[in-house]
Amino acid sequence: MLTGKTAIVTGGARGIGAGIARVLASQGARVAVLDLDGPEAEKTAASLPTPGMAAACDVAVEADTAKAVRSVVERFGGLDVVVNNAGVGRGPGVSQTTPQSLGTGTLSAAQWDEYLSQNLKTTFVTTSVALPYLKTRGGGAIVNIASIAGLVASPRLPAYAAAKAGVISLTKSLALEYAPHDIRVNAICPGFLWTRAWEGLAAALQRSVPEYAALDPRGVFLEVVKRGVPLGREQTPQDIGQLAAFLASDAARNITGQWIAVDGGITLRQAPG
Ligand SMILES: NC(=O)c1ccc[n+]([C@@H]2O[C@H](COP(=O)([O-])OP(=O)(O)OC[C@H]3O[C@@H](n4cnc5c(N)ncnc54)[C@H](O)[C@@H]3O)[C@@H](O)[C@H]2O)c1
Repeated sequence: MLTGKTAIVTGGARGIGAGIARVLASQGARVAVLDLDGPEAEKTAASLPTPGMAAACDVAVEADTAKAVRSVVERFGGLDVVVNNAGVGRGPGVSQTTPQSLGTGTLSAAQWDEYLSQNLKTTFVTTSVALPYLKTRGGGAIVNIASIAGLVASPRLPAYAAAKAGVISLTKSLALEYAPHDIRVNAICPGFLWTRAWEGLAAALQRSVPEYAALDPRGVFLEVVKRGVPLGREQTPQDIGQLAAFLASDAARNITGQWIAVDGGITLRQAPG
């Protein structure tokens, strides 16, 4: 249980982050939803079973993030848990809703920077802003949302994959550095989840892969799941939330510097894509 703990979930307005926020709050945590999308973050925070709060914020920008994290500490009197979930793509040439195949040959340096900023710098910025508060508390837990893309070859999205591999590396470095402060740092590698990110990817696959042409995007996604997931089912934000809640709780008091895939076995063999 997480009763009495205060947690921040970045990118918590929708998708996996909203699922994590709901599970943490169902276990008694006061959850602050930090997201670029302020109105959606407000809606998600208002729906949580334990009252929480929302703050509109770009967690790739240090000043914005510092202000938002300070507002959480002022509201709830401290901070115990940080879930670094915000990610995927936006910015010039990188669309959040229609991610295209960006192999190394077609990827521009600006797109590379954008993926690294959205998917790795965000974790660094939020963590560095939050650490002093966790230290003041005498301990805490950080849960980083990486991806199976950071574990296997991802020729369609090499910059995203490199960023997520970076998240796993950062997880280990932070875990060792902050162990003396009883701050634990772990990572989760989600598999295939039907969120906004996959809606865009499925639409792109439907347009570019002839055998998917007759399917709608949800049908493409389910076909990818059928072919790629040994357990034969998609993963859900609830699945990721359950593990995040465990890693954030005192039940995981001796677990740090680890990554765990929640992927139905995808990474037991080579992932498609
Ligand atoms: N969907 C999947 O299959 C999948 C698989 C593996 C890993 N992931 C990872 O899970 C995380 C969540 O992805 P999702 O599928 O829920 O995506 P999503 O697009 O549904 O939600 C992402 C949320 O993060 C917010 N966000 C993005 N950048 C931000 C920033 N700089 N500052 C604040 N908020 C920001 C967005 O506004 C959005 O609300 C990402 O890190 C993604 O890489 C997703």
